[in-house]
Amino acid sequence: MPTDRKPEFFKGTQLKVAIIGCGYVGLPLAFRFAEAGHRVTGFDTDPNKINMLNAGRSYIEHIPQTKIQQFVNSRHFNATTDFSRLKEADAILICVPTPLNEYREPDLSYVEQTALSIQPNLQKGQLVVLESTTYPGMTEELVLPILEKSGLRCPIASGPENDNVAVDFFLAFSPEREDPGNKQYGLAQIPKVVGGVNAPSGRAAVSLYAQVVAKVIPVSSTRTAEMAKLLENIFRCVNIALVNELKLLSMRMGVDIWEVIDAAATKPFGFMPFYPGPGLGGHCIPVDPFYLSWKAREYDFSTRFIELAGEINTSMPYHIVDSIGAALNTHQKSVKGSKILVLGVAYKKDVDDLRESPTLKIMQILQERGAIFDYNDPFFPQLHKMRHYNYEHMKSVPLNAQTIASYDAIIIATDHSSYDYAAIVDAAKLVVDTRNATRRVQRHRNKIVLC
Ligand SMILES: NC(=O)c1ccc[n+]([C@@H]2O[C@H](COP(=O)([O-])OP(=O)(O)OC[C@H]3O[C@@H](n4cnc5c(N)ncnc54)[C@H](O)[C@@H]3O)[C@@H](O)[C@H]2O)c1
Repeated sequence: MPTDRKPEFFKGTQLKVAIIGCGYVGLPLAFRFAEAGHRVTGFDTDPNKINMLNAGRSYIEHIPQTKIQQFVNSRHFNATTDFSRLKEADAILICVPTPLNEYREPDLSYVEQTALSIQPNLQKGQLVVLESTTYPGMTEELVLPILEKSGLRCPIASGPENDNVAVDFFLAFSPEREDPGNKQYGLAQIPKVVGGVNAPSGRAAVSLYAQVVAKVIPVSSTRTAEMAKLLENIFRCVNIALVNELKLLSMRMGVDIWEVIDAAATKPFGFMPFYPGPGLGGHCIPVDPFYLSWKAREYDFSTRFIELAGEINTSMPYHIVDSIGAALNTHQKSVKGSKILVLGVAYKKDVDDLRESPTLKIMQILQERGAIFDYNDPFFPQLHKMRHYNYEHMKSVPLNAQTIASYDAIIIATDHSSYDYAAIVDAAKLVVDTRNATRRVQRHRNKIVLC
C-alpha cells in the first residue's frame, strides 16, 4: 500500500472500498461502488447477514437478489466479519447505527466500537469516512482520537494556510441521504455533502464520492457536514409536527386538513407540503434531532423547536387511539373489548422497515386499553421481538372481505399501495384512516373517519 498518497489517489479506478455496516445505508452504497467498478468488501458484526450476502441473498426488500448475485459472481463484492481485512482497503466507509438509548440520549457505542475495530488495522494513506448520522463534533471528538491511538496522525486544521497539512491518514464525514423505497432519487442522483477533518481529507473524500454520485458538495469541516444532515432531518421533524398540530385544530374546526394542504401546495414558491399522520417513524426523523438537543446542553442551549416537535409528534399515536375510541363510541362500542384490525406496521408505505414505527405504539396503547387487535402488512408476515416491543407471537392476518367484516374497526396506519381501499371500505363496519388513504374512495364515505 502506498504510504505517501495524495488526495487525488481516490479519483482512481478499481479502488478497494470497505463498507462497515451492511444495512439500509451500507448495502446500497456498497453496490453503487461495485457498479462503478471498485472492489467492495462489506463488514458486519452479524454473521447471518454476511452469510446471506456471500450466498447472493438479499434481506432488504428494495435490494434485488440479482444485483447481489451479479456483484458476488463478478468478484466486485464480498462480505466478511473479519475486521483484520480492513488493512487491505483504500477507503473505509462507516455506516453503523446511531440510535437513542432508553433515556433518549445518543447511543454512541456502535460508532465507538467500529472506530476501535478500525484502529489496529489502520494503514498509512487510508481514507476513513463516517456516514452515520450524528451530532456536530462526533468525527473529531470520538472517531479521530480512537484512530490516532494507532500512532498515525490526521490533525484537525482548517483555513487556506492548512491546505497541505501533513496527514498519515484521511478522515471525513459525509452524511447519507438514502430514502428507502424512493424510485425517483437513487443514491447516484442525490448530491453528497462532504467535510474533512482537514483540507487533504476533504479533497480525498470528494475525489472518492465524485465517482459514484452526480454531485459532491464540499464543506469546510466535518462539523458543518454533521450539522447539515441534522438540519435536513430537523426541518422535516418540525414541519411534520406543525402539520400534525394544525390537523388537530382543523378537526376541531371541521376543516379537512388534507384539502387545505393540497390547496396551499398550489403556491409555486415558498411552500412545501408536509402531511399529517399517526406519528413519526423510521430510523432517522424521530431519532436524529435528539442528537443535536443532547449536544446543545453542553453549550447551555435549549433546542426548543426540537423539543416541541418531539412532544407533538410523540402524542400522535395517543390521538389516533382516542379517535378510534370516539369513532367506536358512535357505534355504541368502546375500545375495551372491540375487535380491531390494524393495516400496516411499516413506518411508511411500501417499505419493509418498522423501526420506530408509530403503529407499534398504537398497538401498545390499544393493548393497554383492552382492545382485541390483529394486524395485516404484506411486508411483515410475522412480527419479531424489538427493543421496545414484543409482538413476536403475532402473524399478519389474511385480508379478505370476510375477515375485514369480522372486525369492529379497521385502522389504516400505513398506506401501502397494494391495499384495495375501496374494497376495504366496502367490507368494513368502520374505517379509521390516519393517512387519508381513502381519499379516492367514493362509496360508503359515512364509514370512514379521518384522524
Ligand atoms: N435508513 C435510512 O434511511 C438512513 C438514511 C440516512 C442516514 N441513515 C443513518 O445511517 C446509519 C446506518 O443506518 P441503517 O439504516 O443503515 O442501519 P441498519 O441497522 O440497517 O444497518 C446497520 C448495520 O450495521 C451493523 N453493525 C452494527 N454494529 C456494527 C459494528 N460494530 N461493526 C460492523 N457492523 C455493525 C448491523 O448489524 C447492521 O447490519 C445511521 O446512522 C442512520 O441514522 C439511515
